Parts: sequence; C-alpha cells; structure tokens
Amino acid sequence: MFPLNRNRRLRTNEAMRSLVRENFLTPNDFQAPLFIVEGKNKKEEIASMPGYYRFSLDLLQEEVKELWSLGIKSVLLFVKVEENLKDNQGKEAVNPDGLMQRAIKTVKDAVPEMVVMTDVALDPYSMYGHDGIIENGKILNDESVQALAQMALSHAKAGADLVAPSDMMDGRILIMRQLLEQEGFINTGIMSYSAKYASAFYGPFRDALDSAPVDAQNIPKDKKTYQMDPANRDEAIKETLMDIEEGADIVMIKPGLCYLDIVRDIKNTVNVPISVYQVSGEYAMIKAASEKGWLDHDTVVLEQLTAIKRAGADFVATYFAKHAAKLIS
Ligand code: PBG
Repeated sequence: MFPLNRNRRLRTNEAMRSLVRENFLTPNDFQAPLFIVEGKNKKEEIASMPGYYRFSLDLLQEEVKELWSLGIKSVLLFVKVEENLKDNQGKEAVNPDGLMQRAIKTVKDAVPEMVVMTDVALDPYSMYGHDGIIENGKILNDESVQALAQMALSHAKAGADLVAPSDMMDGRILIMRQLLEQEGFINTGIMSYSAKYASAFYGPFRDALDSAPVDAQNIPKDKKTYQMDPANRDEAIKETLMDIEEGADIVMIKPGLCYLDIVRDIKNTVNVPISVYQVSGEYAMIKAASEKGWLDHDTVVLEQLTAIKRAGADFVATYFAKHAAKLIS
C-alpha cells in the first residue's frame, strides 16, 4: 500500500513552492505607524519598543522619504502631546497649528503621493488618558463623538487623505462622515477601527505617547466600557457592519495575531478593504524574545505578517513596515 496523495511533491524545492504559494507580501501591504514629538533633531527610542522611535518634524521628512523609497505607500500618524496642552475635552486636537496638523503637512511636503492617515482619538490629548470626555467617572459617548468629528475635520483641512478613528465610541463614523461632507471634504476617507479590542497588547504604545489612563479616583483604569471584550466574536461583525453602513471606506481589526479568526470572519462577510493592526505589544514580544536568542527575528516577522494577510487582511499597520519591506526587496 502507498499513500494516495503525496503533498510533499509540491514542496520539493523553492521554485516549486513559489509556484503554488497562495499568499505573498509586498511593500504595498504595509502601513507604517509614525510617532511624532515637538522639538528639533529628535529621534527618541521608545523603551518598550526597541528599534522604534519618536521623530520631531524635521527628522520625520527623512523617514517618510525612506519609507517611500522602500515602496511603502501609507503612514498612520500619532502625536505625543505636551502635558500642559492636555485637558478633558481635547481642545488642542483641533488647533490648526497643532503638532498633528503640522505633521500632516510635513509628510505631504516630503512625499506628496504618500497616503496619509491620521489617528483620530482623544487619548493623547486627554488629561485622563481616555478616548472620551469624562464626567463623574463616566466616558460620555455623544459629546466625545462631536469632539472626534471636529478633530477629523481639522485633520482633513490639514491635508489628511483618510482619518482613522480609533476610539470605539458609538455612532462616530456617521457624525464624522456627515461633517466632512457638509464642509466639502467629500474625498477625505475614513478608516474605522471597527473591531478594536480592550487588549493588554497596547501597553508599549501608551508608553510611546504617554497616554495610559491615569490612576485616579473615579476614573476607569481600563478601556473596557468602549473597546471590545476579547471573548467576543459575533460582536466584531456587528461593529464592522455598522461602521460600513455609517460610511467607513476601510475597516480595521486590532490587535492582529490573537484575532485572526475575527479577521477571517470579517473578510468572509464584508466587501470593503480590511486593515489589521499588528500592535505595539506584538512588536515588543518579537523584539524581546529575539534579543534573548529564543526566536529568529526576521523569520518570525515575515511569518506573522504573512499569517495576517492569509487570514484576510488587505494591508497591515505594522512597526515592522520598514524592516519587512527591506527583507522582501
Ligand atoms: C488610541 C490608540 C491606541 C492604539 C492605537 N490608537 C491605544 C489604546 O487604545 O489605548 C494602540 C496601538 C498599538 O498598541 O500599537 N486610541
């Protein structure tokens, strides 16, 4: 008796394997998140994200040009807001001369074709480190949505191609879309963080922006009243379908690796592009284990990114964007 099928025939050498390979990585698959700080000539390494930096605007230009030269077509901007500019309402977020607004222009000056997406969320601007306005220990939904819509408009005015709300308040896509239309920004898109989980993998990001929820009386210490419960699956589809109905052009699932079942569920359900965020904690895990010599860094990076694509992502927001683009070039 012999095996009826010998699958190993198609694995005999790299030429054969590449012939039958189902998924590929290209630099088009990567979106680079960028952390921006005030000041000049600053390139600050983030302690919990070895090899990842916060850039001042002058150095941001160089970085963006390098990304473009590697074939990366999109960036996702985050700003570290000065402590004295933080408040409960996020007023600084709509300052036409704020750090985000200047960063958008800086990127567009450096590489006009680069697709610029901006994080729309209150937490970097919030004295409490939350994605919403707080009253009596509660995160207010509708008031926060109004502030987020104004923030999105301000980013659109500064030249963002897409705004990317990462807050998980209810109804924000609709309100944001309506405001953008009313104000004439009919071509500014929305990438919605649709299925964003209340994950412990965001820790290093909150170090990077100094945006962790504060430890104070009556202020919730976690984001579980707005971000999703990691135990839920059906709810991710509901959230995503609602955002598409409200006008999202692209939807996002976040984090990546622990949520690939969700990515596939959504891929099988919707017909808009899907982005997946391989978040800061996922980056940190790979860095830490490979620094110890326990994992082979580059192989693991490409394996994870391929797995995210295989699950159904059209592109991946990843701190490995630059490195992975170099690896596959
Ligand atoms: C904030 C925001 C977070 C991330 C992206 N936007 C953190 C949070 O929700 O607390 C996390 C990204 C990462 O961990 O890489 N609205």
